[in-house]
Amino acid sequence: MLADRTKLVPASEIRKMYNMARGRSNILDLTVGQPDFDTPDFIKVAAKKAIDDGYTKYTHNAGLIEVREALAKKAKRENGIDANPEKEIICTAGGMGSLLLANLVLVNPGDEVIYPDPGFVSHYAHIMLSGGVPVPVQLKRENGFAVRAEDIEKLITRKTKLLVINYPNNPTGGVISNSELKKIAELAIARNIFVLADEAYEKFRYGGEKPLNIGSLPGMKERTITLFSFSKSYAMTGWRIGFAIGPEEIVAAMVRIQEHILSMPTAISQKAAEAAVTGPQDCIKIMLDTFRKRRDVITKGLQSIEGIKVDPPGGAFYIFPDVSAYKMKSFDLAVKILDDTGVVLVHGSGFGRYGEGYLRLCYAVSTEVIQDALGRLDSYLPKLLKKSR
Ligand SMILES: Cc1ncc(COP(=O)(O)O)c(C=O)c1O
Repeated sequence: MLADRTKLVPASEIRKMYNMARGRSNILDLTVGQPDFDTPDFIKVAAKKAIDDGYTKYTHNAGLIEVREALAKKAKRENGIDANPEKEIICTAGGMGSLLLANLVLVNPGDEVIYPDPGFVSHYAHIMLSGGVPVPVQLKRENGFAVRAEDIEKLITRKTKLLVINYPNNPTGGVISNSELKKIAELAIARNIFVLADEAYEKFRYGGEKPLNIGSLPGMKERTITLFSFSKSYAMTGWRIGFAIGPEEIVAAMVRIQEHILSMPTAISQKAAEAAVTGPQDCIKIMLDTFRKRRDVITKGLQSIEGIKVDPPGGAFYIFPDVSAYKMKSFDLAVKILDDTGVVLVHGSGFGRYGEGYLRLCYAVSTEVIQDALGRLDSYLPKLLKKSR
């Protein structure tokens, strides 16, 4: 009954763990990646006003022009990217909408797309839906999960069309240095490859140098699509709003396809996004400070558990400990942990083959939940380790 294309995309392994835990009692959920904060009030107020002001109709397929103008200013101010709001910006349903459209407009059947592994599960799915050939590039713990230009270079062939990068990274929490980013940009230019830069976690970095955006580097504007999301930055996962910046021809094609899929993201969410980027930004600092404290608690807690190897993640709200000492498939380990402790987390292999041997824990939950989870893991895992020896 179903078309072949439905077989190309697997169900999310995050959901698999989440569903397995449903209905059980005394569960501590560290699976789904969304801030435990509510959307800031000033954004909600702007959305209610948008309804009253009549933003209840279709808009331009790329989004309202005043919203795109506000987004262009944000991109210039925060990311150093120059974008013409009329031609180089598209509002989409979450960052997800931008990711899918970028793949659909750039990738021909048979084109190779290099993407991070372990990585965000939809990167792989979008390549498959576009008929592309997914080519995983391994993110290695010894490099802080920052992708290396030299590792990308080894994978480039005549058929390579697109490179996906994502920092701060889901699922590892890794960040990348500006110097490595520059090397990647040079490589993309030299080998004529497009870059899809996934900035969904741009606001969540715990120190380090001021990050450069690859789309702002010399020679990169014409080959980079940068996507931003309001989901994590402003705790707006349910509003489904994000946007992409890219070369005029690519954005025009994304707009054309969006017209036939979604028309445009809801006008109300567009106005909420405009308020988010033009309003006070202290909500971000509050979230960032809170996540930083939780990151410190979870890193220290995990580091003190026998058999776990982990470094403090530089960004996002995930931690990706190496649990290879347990000599078990990460899925089996995640299920055992769920069954025996009630802590639900995600197996690293759910993020690609190079995620095997790791677990992902999302710490966008209260410190109490983190401490409770650490306590349960600490009284369980060392015993399991003894058995595995
Ligand atoms: C790396 C990454 N990119 C993009 C997204 C898409 O987020 P949204 O569609 O909610 O903006 C996510 C969501 O988890 C993500 O982790």
